[in-house]
Amino acid sequence: MKVTAKELETLIVNKLMKAGLKEEHAQVVADVLVHADARGYHSHGAMRVEYYAERIAKGGINTDPEIQFEKNGPAAAIFEGDNGVGHFMAKKAMEEAIAIAKENGIAVVGVRNISHSGALSYFVEQAADEGLIGISVCQSDPMVVPFGGAEPYYGTNPIAFAAPSSNGEKIIFDMATTVQAWGKILHHRSKNEPIPDSWAVDENGESTTDPFKVKALLPIAGPKGYGLMMMVDILSGVLLGLPHGKHVTSMYEDLTEYRKLGQLHIVINPAFFTSADLFKEKITTSMEELNQVKPKEGYDRVSYPGQRSEERAKKAYEDGIEIVDEIYEYLVSDVVHNNQYDNKDPFAK
Ligand code: NAI
Repeated sequence: MKVTAKELETLIVNKLMKAGLKEEHAQVVADVLVHADARGYHSHGAMRVEYYAERIAKGGINTDPEIQFEKNGPAAAIFEGDNGVGHFMAKKAMEEAIAIAKENGIAVVGVRNISHSGALSYFVEQAADEGLIGISVCQSDPMVVPFGGAEPYYGTNPIAFAAPSSNGEKIIFDMATTVQAWGKILHHRSKNEPIPDSWAVDENGESTTDPFKVKALLPIAGPKGYGLMMMVDILSGVLLGLPHGKHVTSMYEDLTEYRKLGQLHIVINPAFFTSADLFKEKITTSMEELNQVKPKEGYDRVSYPGQRSEERAKKAYEDGIEIVDEIYEYLVSDVVHNNQYDNKDPFAK
């Protein structure tokens, strides 16, 4: 069914506040989730609300965190999130990174001790909206087989990148380092639809098309994706003194515990490397040239990264956002959560 962005945002804010989150924090979570649903990243949209509500209600997210910001050098800083809700912390930390990069040319801000922060495109877009290059990486629960392995070690460790152009559009590249994000498997489960055989493996490490049989995800491009997820783990975990690799907390293990996750924002100010205007013009040229590349049979056009999601978003903010009926029913109900995520094996049926 379709709902307006405004209605979806209000429903999410109300539900999260009912679970115990402050309005200021709930507003940012809702904004990030609506951003994701509008762009077609339903795996990181409203379908996550009930999980967040349960974790908040059970104490696994700090609803009254004490934020600390330590600037340890001209461009290096740590944003301590005190296990508050990840979306709010990652947004605030990006605001700090933007301010540093405007002044010093580059910023590297580690966001320490947060909960899940959702779709990373939201945060890198903050930087691009200010004429800067944004990069963000974060940890995620261990559920991916390393290349050649038969059990999970790393998370789906996403990487996002955004760059501004001269016409207001942005290049936004945002991907999990797995063939698909875990949330996409959840999305297929919620719709009871099969998954392609390249996404995940079953209990024997064999490819499966049944979303309910998934026991681990596959990295993108074999050993190359495995290398990228290792890089993300080092930058957003080891570098910030947080649990790394298989020691990263699971989303569903114990909803009363803080997750202690890490995220790293890198912001680059083009004006410190070239002419800022020239940079943006060349990005515009790249976008146009990519669109002009002759498409192969079966493709209507070559898109630049983020183009299709932005087009979807523009339409969704005008015509409404498509969400699954059961998610809407939960959002409009009086129930805070249905106690279904605690100690849940994510790979269980
Ligand atoms: P995806 O597979 O839907 O898209 C990956 C990238 O490919 C995007 O930049 C997209 O714009 C681009 N793309 C897709 N089709 C294209 C086409 N036809 N032409 C040109 N470019 C195209 O994204 P994925 O990997 O499923 O990630 C979904 C979301 O999940 C992301 O927002 C990511 O940040 C988030 N995520 C968050 C995690 C967390 O722990 N916070 C963990 C894993 C993912």
